[in-house]
Amino acid sequence: MKRPSILVLTPVLLAGLAYPVARGDDPPKPPVQLSTPEDHKRTMELLNIKELRRGANGNNPKAENAANFDESKANPFPNLPDPLVLKNGQKITTAEAWRNDRRAEIVEDFDREIYGRVPKVTPLVKWEVTATEKRMIDDIPVVNKRLVGHVDNSSYSPVSVDIQLTLTVPEKATGPVPVMMEFGFGGFGGKGPMRPAGKGGPGWQQQVLAKGWGYAILTPGSIQADNGTGLTKGIIGLCNQGQPRKLDDWGALRAWAWGASRALDYFETDKAVDARQVGIEGHSRYGKAALVAMAYDERFAIAYVSSSGAGGAKLHRRNFGELVENVAGSGEYHWMAGNYLKYAGPQTWNDLPVDSHELIALCAPRPVFIGAGATNGDGWVDARGMFLAAVGAGPVYRLIGKKDLGTTEFPAIETPLIDGEVAFRQHNGGHTPGPNWPTFVKFADRYLKAPLAPATKPPAPR
Ligand code: GCU
Repeated sequence: MKRPSILVLTPVLLAGLAYPVARGDDPPKPPVQLSTPEDHKRTMELLNIKELRRGANGNNPKAENAANFDESKANPFPNLPDPLVLKNGQKITTAEAWRNDRRAEIVEDFDREIYGRVPKVTPLVKWEVTATEKRMIDDIPVVNKRLVGHVDNSSYSPVSVDIQLTLTVPEKATGPVPVMMEFGFGGFGGKGPMRPAGKGGPGWQQQVLAKGWGYAILTPGSIQADNGTGLTKGIIGLCNQGQPRKLDDWGALRAWAWGASRALDYFETDKAVDARQVGIEGHSRYGKAALVAMAYDERFAIAYVSSSGAGGAKLHRRNFGELVENVAGSGEYHWMAGNYLKYAGPQTWNDLPVDSHELIALCAPRPVFIGAGATNGDGWVDARGMFLAAVGAGPVYRLIGKKDLGTTEFPAIETPLIDGEVAFRQHNGGHTPGPNWPTFVKFADRYLKAPLAPATKPPAPR
């Protein structure tokens, strides 16, 4: 006969920080195992949806559902929700009303319908420095730290999450430095060796170090897997005790952004870093995550959002390149809340209560740089759709006394629009963040300030 479970108060619970967990003698059950198609189908069933509209095909221009790249067909729903009108119809005319009344309405809509909610209480993360190494990057001596953020899994031991992060700062810094943090593709510490100076110019890390800033690379897969089957594991699965998601639970983008916030918590404790000057950067799916991190965590000082496309800075109401229907499909839906699937059928993009211009507006007053590649090469991400979202965020930036993009005209390729707090540039290459880095660094240089170099020694008295 089973003995009744006894409620054990864990120390964290006593501190009022964790959810109550009944712990009996039975070991907790392993996470529910669903394949990605099974979990996608389960999500559709919860929504009472039989069928989703088909996504656009970006590979075959002859396909019946070939992606559209014709601007004249790109705006079936040209009217965007107004970021400066409250749900009750009242117009927002002051910075205070934006901050106190409207911003929270927009956050709630993104939480419920688009990216999902982060649980009110998430487990504590204990950061451990696992290695410290001095090295040279080109001619700059640096200190490189490897860190692991151990997430407290005492509420559900079958899932463990260990966040991987590297931090690199100039060794000779005279004080805490600004840091640019990247959501890294590839394993611990990013993708292989840095591009050497010379061919194509210095890599982004060198450009950042040359300003006297540091950089960090976070490994998204160590926070949450990049697929649907992983949703009962990772930080999302840990918080759900291995159960599948509810319709408004967080998706991978918010989970990755949550991990970035925990890295920022660590930076607040590291004397080498000026945590008030930490920027976030990501490309493609991680460009989406970078924008989400910047919008939700107001401690991030600046963002470089590269080729983020659908589900990122691009307006959902656009028919160009990737569509809502693609993001709602089984290969990508795990980035979003389950509720997002509704807008790929039966509802339309126009039924979304918010659009991406309002996600950019949530970054205000902080500076945000939206980048993309050329339309032939990076057309899938819809540079103009992201530009229009940046334009649409302008009224909020202006209302609170900041500068918008400065134009509503789509600029010629390689024209930097970096005079305001919302910035944009389309580079001439393909799906890569590289060519926009120098422009981003120039933009960021207005905001991020390295500690002063040591005063040069006065000449010896004669
Ligand atoms: C696919 C996907 C995009 C995503 C990209 C990436 O192309 O459709 O939404 O940004 O992968 O992350 O590389």
